Amino acid sequence: MIAFLANFTIALLFLLSCTYFTSTDAYDALDPHGNITIKWDIMSWTPDGDVVREIIWSMNGGQATEQGDCSGFKNSFPHCCKRNPTIVDLLPGTPYNQQIANCCKGGVLNSWLQDPAHAAGSFQLSVGRAGTSNKTVRVPKNFTLQAPGPGYTCGRVKIVKPSKFFTSDKRRVTQALMAWNVTCTYSQFLAKKSPTCCVSLSSFYNDTIVPCPTCSCGCQSNMEKPGSCVEANSPHLASVVPGSGNNSSLPLVQCTSHMCPVRVHWHIKLNYKEYWRVKITVTNFNHGMNYSDWNLVFQLPNLNNMAQIFSFNYKPLNPYGAINDTAMLWGIRYYNDLLMQAGPLGNVQSEILLRKDASFTFEKGWAFPRRVYFNGDKCEAYLWLPNASSRNYISLLMLNGFDHSF
Ligand SMILES: *[C@@H]1O[C@H](CO)[C@@H](O)[C@H](O)[C@H]1NC(C)=O
Ligand SMILES: *[C@@H]1O[C@H](CO)[C@@H](O)[C@H](O)[C@H]1NC(C)=O
Ligand SMILES: *[C@@H]1O[C@H](CO)[C@@H](O)[C@H](O)[C@H]1NC(C)=O
Ligand SMILES: *[C@@H]1O[C@H](CO)[C@@H](O)[C@H](O)[C@H]1NC(C)=O
Ligand SMILES: *[C@@H]1O[C@H](CO)[C@@H](O)[C@H](O)[C@H]1NC(C)=O
Ligand SMILES: *[C@@H]1O[C@H](CO)[C@@H](O)[C@H](O)[C@H]1NC(C)=O
Ligand SMILES: *[C@@H]1O[C@H](CO)[C@@H](O)[C@H](O)[C@H]1NC(C)=O
Ligand SMILES: *[C@@H]1O[C@H](CO)[C@@H](O)[C@H](O)[C@H]1NC(C)=O
Ligand SMILES: *[C@@H]1O[C@H](CO)[C@@H](O)[C@H](O)[C@H]1NC(C)=O
Ligand SMILES: *[C@@H]1O[C@H](CO)[C@@H](O)[C@H](O)[C@H]1NC(C)=O
Repeated sequence: MIAFLANFTIALLFLLSCTYFTSTDAYDALDPHGNITIKWDIMSWTPDGDVVREIIWSMNGGQATEQGDCSGFKNSFPHCCKRNPTIVDLLPGTPYNQQIANCCKGGVLNSWLQDPAHAAGSFQLSVGRAGTSNKTVRVPKNFTLQAPGPGYTCGRVKIVKPSKFFTSDKRRVTQALMAWNVTCTYSQFLAKKSPTCCVSLSSFYNDTIVPCPTCSCGCQSNMEKPGSCVEANSPHLASVVPGSGNNSSLPLVQCTSHMCPVRVHWHIKLNYKEYWRVKITVTNFNHGMNYSDWNLVFQLPNLNNMAQIFSFNYKPLNPYGAINDTAMLWGIRYYNDLLMQAGPLGNVQSEILLRKDASFTFEKGWAFPRRVYFNGDKCEAYLWLPNASSRNYISLLMLNGFDHSF
């Protein structure tokens, strides 16, 4: 997954103590710098006696999930006394006296590229017995970011330049006393997520459709385990959809040969003299999920010849500077930024127009994307397009129950 491209539900865990800490790195070739940074600014020192162990006196914009054992405090009521508190974001609409600026997003962060205003969240905590100056301060250790499951690995705490804050009238700047950064990177492998998306291909020059690889996201096992997926036209569908009073742990993915909740279809639609045109269709096969603020990243040789995009937002990503072969697509607000649950409305579509340069060819799969990501997770696809003659570009594959309606 591409850390800066996804939506998250976040819980933050850290150990309020000095402990030895190791980290491993996650890496994604399409997003070598994708990460989430936790910045920890100390706003004031509050002397409060001897240093025994840290406690959290109070919090704004977030809360510790458990108070822990605060029995040592007779006349005061700390928010949390655990050595390794778990902090979760508050929900939008939290009472004003519990808010701080940029808080309370219900744990959902948007990707920086799509919506920078919603790409960061803040909370404030008042930590007692944690030191009284930048010489004696005890740095928190062992950060864990959950989004909501595993997948993130957080590195060491680094001392960085303190943030500056503007007063609301923007006429005065205050500065934090000290700051630390922790960078957390994502790995789909660590998240132990099975693939959630697959890619299918077709073209105007050949009727053959390359479907999603069979069992991309799991195999259909309704034979052994009835109810592991739902038939498209199941009369029971209405009764299994959340909100209709049914058990939400029931699988709600439509029965397909690939079993992916999301399919991205790439169709080479037209060949003009100087341009060529692609139609992209993203289909939701999950009856239990609306994907709001979805995004799609793809890598295509010669993407810098992009001429026009219809009905999606588009931004080139240039992870390696000069090599301009990666871009992100996402929906237009209030038009197609919501990929609705499976059903007649469960798809979004766009077309892109690309200019042909001197080296352009439809051969050897050059007009198909090398990699596709949906909401930051890699989509399963045939890695190699079969060897093709100059006429036949894609191979014939079994079309098991494949939907031809593009
Ligand atoms: C860090 O936190 C994780 C999760 O709470 C825990 O499993 C791990 O043992 C901790 N590591 C250290 C060195 O305390
Ligand atoms: C985290 O992302 C930022 C912004 O893309 C990048 O400058 C920084 O090098 C990244 N850090 C790590 C440890 O990957
Ligand atoms: C620390 O994190 C902030 C974002 O919270 C970022 O702007 C800054 O560049 C980071 N500094 C370092 C040295 O990574
Ligand atoms: C600690 O604070 C003093 C003055 O308050 C400052 O000169 C020094 O640079 C600070 N050290 C760090 C590591 O922030
Ligand atoms: C869902 O609940 C309805 C009653 O609310 C029930 O009739 C139906 O069998 C349930 N469906 C499943 C798949 O359990
Ligand atoms: C939902 O179904 C699972 C497995 O069928 C069962 O363990 C669980 O108790 C059910 N929950 C509710 C709220 O019915
Ligand atoms: C998806 O969104 C539609 C429209 O807002 C809503 O009617 C439906 O219940 C939602 N489905 C799920 C699974 O949240
Ligand atoms: C990359 O291509 C896009 C068009 O797809 C263009 O707008 C952008 O300027 C290019 N960037 C670089 C660094 O070549
Ligand atoms: C495609 O097949 C031809 C002959 O069958 C072979 O000469 C050529 O090297 C193959 N190309 C690739 C890319 O495998
Ligand atoms: C499409 O491609 C397949 C496999 O390369 C080939 O067998 C078939 O004849 C082609 N169909 C047409 C109409 O060219």
